[in-house]
Amino acid sequence: MRPLNLFAKAAVILSIFFMSAFAEGSFAEGSFVQVITPKENTLQTELTLNVVLGIDKKRLDAVEVGVFPDMKSLDLSRSESTACVNISLTLGENMVLVRAYKEGVLVSEESRSVYVSSQLYHQFRYPPKEYSKSYFHNDENEKLCAKCHDMSVNEVENVAFEDITKSNCYGCHKNINSQKYAHAPSANWLCTSCHQESKKGVSKYLTKEPMDASCFECHKENQELWSSAKYRHEPLDAGHCDKCHNPHSGPYSMFIRKDVNEICLGCHKSKDMETLQSQNSACAGTSYGSLCIDCHTPHASNRPFFLKKRFDEVKK
Ligand code: HEC
Ligand code: HEC
Ligand code: HEC
Ligand code: HEC
Ligand code: HEC
Ligand code: HEC
Ligand code: HEC
Repeated sequence: MRPLNLFAKAAVILSIFFMSAFAEGSFAEGSFVQVITPKENTLQTELTLNVVLGIDKKRLDAVEVGVFPDMKSLDLSRSESTACVNISLTLGENMVLVRAYKEGVLVSEESRSVYVSSQLYHQFRYPPKEYSKSYFHNDENEKLCAKCHDMSVNEVENVAFEDITKSNCYGCHKNINSQKYAHAPSANWLCTSCHQESKKGVSKYLTKEPMDASCFECHKENQELWSSAKYRHEPLDAGHCDKCHNPHSGPYSMFIRKDVNEICLGCHKSKDMETLQSQNSACAGTSYGSLCIDCHTPHASNRPFFLKKRFDEVKK
């Protein structure tokens, strides 16, 4: 990914240089394409992103959007001067390119840097400092879409949509639930069961922080079991269920963010596990092809080390 990004960056710098020279001579002020969303240096956690453009159809007849080389051509057949597309990202830095063409010639190129972070990979845990979370759903931004999209909430508390495409959130966010294992409230498009907090001028759809309070509104039995347990796993105790579970959907059972052993080893380094093994610990780690959760629960237990069985039983 990295060499491509560098290549793309070089291409942008070159073309910006080219364009400014070009624009001064031949064109009046104003650009061909206005990137309405995303903002430069946006930080996020999901691998899908919406790109919305204001376009000047007199000056261009084709637009491509994406992270090079995965570019999507936009449909400009509509009469409006707004074009919308949903694209895929990868973990880490993504340089989103917007290329405009007139009669097959590249006439403008814009870019936006977007960083997808993950707590579970050391290399993606700490985004470069220029990136920050930018929220979308405030009145000012929504006004830009309301002409064509219904921006209101049309879900009924605890009632799943029979036809999920009827949710007002579906059109713009359909990819958020498209991975193999989806979480019931998200898959049923009951988005505001978790996105229930709002802050004026920031977003209408924030979540509780830490977010376990939201999870426990529905998972009451787990809360009772875990809060009374003698030993609680640190990330759970801190309320960060979403460090391990993607609240929407994921490629692994229970929508955990990585394969189960990988998720444990993301925080408990394999080097430490090797040390444990060399000390003849009963902690078999991955060496016998066993799963961490064969012996440990990921949440809480009355046994030390969150063991599922008694210590002497594990030892055998
Ligand atoms: C002039 C009308 C118009 C405006 C304004 C508009 N959209 Fe759209 N948008 C559409 C139409 C029509 C579609 C569905 C047809 C299509 O896919 O082109 C759409 C589709 C989308 C999609 C789905 C694209 C995909 O790849 O499936 C997203 C995301 C989106 N709009 C976001 C936005 C956002 C965010 C705004 C406000 C910043 C906005 N749109 C403003 C007309 C508009
Ligand atoms: C017209 C398109 C559009 C519609 C309709 C829409 N969203 Fe969004 N939403 C966006 C865009 C653009 C972002 C910015 C992140 C991105 O590009 O994925 C966003 C971001 C969010 C976020 C992250 C927090 C924030 O404010 O940035 C949440 C949560 C969210 N949407 C929930 C919803 C819910 C719930 C609904 C339905 C009631 C909904 N959205 C309808 C376009 C839309
Ligand atoms: C079970 C709770 C839950 C449900 C249900 C839920 N979300 Fe979320 N959502 C979260 C949490 C928690 C975050 C913040 C996750 C993070 O950044 O680690 C989040 C973040 C987001 C974001 C921002 C992602 C980013 O990259 O920054 C969007 C967009 C979003 N949700 C849209 C939706 C939509 C649309 C629905 C309904 C289909 C929905 N959510 C349902 C809990 C939920
Ligand atoms: C609006 C209610 C609701 C909220 C809020 C909610 N869940 Fe769920 N969750 C469900 C339902 C319903 C199911 C599917 C039925 C079941 O297995 O309990 C489910 C299933 C699950 C499962 C899979 C359980 C299994 O045995 O397959 C996990 C894991 C999970 N939720 C985690 C979370 C986390 C983490 C949060 C907070 C980020 C959360 N849930 C918030 C309703 C909710
Ligand atoms: C350290 C990672 C991690 C954290 C943090 C975490 N989980 Fe889990 N969770 C898992 C794994 C792994 C599984 C699958 C366990 C299995 O298959 O036995 C799971 C399973 C579940 C299940 C279904 C099985 C069960 O025990 O009922 C629920 C519900 C659940 N988690 C909810 C939550 C909630 C709510 C939180 C936050 C309070 C949370 N989890 C925090 C890793 C985690
Ligand atoms: C988000 C990071 C994170 C993830 C993911 C994670 N852990 Fe932990 N775990 C911690 C922290 C922090 C502690 C407490 C500090 C310590 O002892 O290292 C801890 C403690 C433990 C302990 C107890 C150590 C003791 O001395 O009491 C065990 C056992 C454990 N984790 C097992 C697991 C297993 C099994 C998984 C996978 C299901 C897992 N962890 C996933 C962060 C994590
Ligand atoms: C065969 C059962 C078994 C399996 C499989 C297993 N463990 Fe353990 N683990 C134990 C036992 C028993 C302990 C208690 C400490 C000891 O005996 O040295 C332990 C201790 C730990 C500790 C605490 C170490 C300390 O000294 O603080 C961590 C962290 C841990 N395990 C993580 C993992 C991870 C991550 C995996 C998967 C890669 C895993 N374990 C797989 C049985 C197991």
